[in-house]
Amino acid sequence: MKKFEGRTVMVTGAGKNIGKEIALSFAAEGANVIVCDYNRENAEQTALEIEGMGVSAMAAVCDVRDRKAIFAYAEEGIRRFGKIDILVNNAGGSADLLKKLSRFVDAEPETLDFVLDTNIKGTMNCTQAVLKSMIKEKYGKIINISSIAAVCGLYDRVDYAAAKAAQIGMTKALAMEVGEYNICVNCVSPGAIARNGKILNHMTFLGESGRGGTPRDIAETVLFLASQDFITGQNFIVDGGRTLGPGHR
Ligand SMILES: NC(=O)c1ccc[n+]([C@@H]2O[C@H](COP(=O)([O-])OP(=O)(O)OC[C@H]3O[C@@H](n4cnc5c(N)ncnc54)[C@H](O)[C@@H]3O)[C@@H](O)[C@H]2O)c1
Repeated sequence: MKKFEGRTVMVTGAGKNIGKEIALSFAAEGANVIVCDYNRENAEQTALEIEGMGVSAMAAVCDVRDRKAIFAYAEEGIRRFGKIDILVNNAGGSADLLKKLSRFVDAEPETLDFVLDTNIKGTMNCTQAVLKSMIKEKYGKIINISSIAAVCGLYDRVDYAAAKAAQIGMTKALAMEVGEYNICVNCVSPGAIARNGKILNHMTFLGESGRGGTPRDIAETVLFLASQDFITGQNFIVDGGRTLGPGHR
């Protein structure tokens, strides 16, 4: 029997890169997957690939900022699969998505709203959409994808660093509230992870491991956490050592 057979996972931002790798990895371990992404083509492509792996997939084409749509898709998923066991809040990004990276002193209020809404409100929306069902089932794993920006900052991304740090705070407080229902809440904070197969050029410190990260590095950590029931409220930095102090090189 595969590790996640009979489980249903909802992964946001599963249309490409880290989220897609997480979605495919759960499917390879037997889980049915709700593929949430606002990019219809990519969401449907991921869902198609998952169906091809012999499990079921449902494309949930919506923006995680759209609370009504997220709740509707969660309800549809629960109707179809009976429950949602695992939620991975991966959809997110910086003002770079709007091509509006800037020093904080110049950041426009609309950009701040966009970054905070996408990363922290989106995470809260999706979590609330599945939480009642998890509590009823007395089972759940919630894994939030934050960033090392939350713990060491990142130039031109004050809003993003703040929103990602908020995910870590949320992880800890929520873990306290839902532990009694056998629900674990954890956070994974990636360092520089290849996007579309390319190492990110603006994050060139490669850390003690001497290599840039891949979506696989993050997916493996997420699947590990989803298989544990005694780890909760924690933030796992997966960055090849980039946030360590000065090294010997
Ligand atoms: N790549 C990195 O180096 C890195 C480092 C630290 C943290 N992260 C975090 O990991 C997560 C994934 O990063 P990535 O590099 O794979 O991002 P990406 O931009 O390559 O992919 C993000 C996916 O999420 C979707 N998405 C974005 N906003 C959405 C929204 N509001 N609603 C629904 N779907 C949405 C996009 O369509 C896309 O398919 C993000 O939360 C990001 O902040 C990434």
